[in-house]
Amino acid sequence: MDLIEAPIDELIRPMARDDIPSIAEIEQSEGYSAWSKPLIDQSFRDHQGWVSITNGRLVAYAFFSRVLDELTLLNIVTNKPFRQQGVAERLLTKIFSIYRTQGAKRCFLEVGETNLSAQTLYKKLGFIIVGRRKAYYKSQSLNDSPEDALVLQVDL
Ligand SMILES: CC(C)(COP(=O)(O)OP(=O)(O)OC[C@H]1O[C@@H](n2cnc3c(N)ncnc32)[C@H](O)[C@@H]1OP(=O)(O)O)[C@@H](O)C(=O)NCCC(=O)NCCS
Repeated sequence: MDLIEAPIDELIRPMARDDIPSIAEIEQSEGYSAWSKPLIDQSFRDHQGWVSITNGRLVAYAFFSRVLDELTLLNIVTNKPFRQQGVAERLLTKIFSIYRTQGAKRCFLEVGETNLSAQTLYKKLGFIIVGRRKAYYKSQSLNDSPEDALVLQVDL
């Protein structure tokens, strides 16, 4: 008998306050770069959050700030067991199409110069490098030097 793959039950929607515990749990697993609970709370209050829910489980989220027609992607994380399955790409593609209909024209972000997985994702979505911020990210250990951030931009 042929197996029929079940379609993914994936929902992308604005973040709700009840999502914060799941987000904090995923952030904890990010180690040194994890956002603290107060930072997540503050971002929920001050910015625009989106989540991707698969089969009822929060698997990824993103925070944006928006000023007029300009967006900044502040953070995007896919929970580790769900990575490299297209979750972040679908999340960003959907969010950009929603913001585009609301008049957003471009999106900026900063990414660590060694964060190649994120850079590959952004390049696939059309982002280009428009700048560099020297020593933007604090070092992971005393022996490391701070990491530069690349500034990326895409026209929506
Ligand atoms: C970056 C991140 C959000 C990507 O999430 P994801 O759901 O695994 O990404 P997707 O599966 O949607 O990947 C889409 C594309 O991104 C690229 N990509 C994603 N992960 C990659 C990896 N580990 N290596 C190389 N390319 C990768 C690929 O081009 C991929 O397309 P393909 O599968 O057709 O090759 C995830 O790795 C993550 O949460 N990282 C930790 C947090 C982080 O660094 N966030 C970015 C802050 S700037």
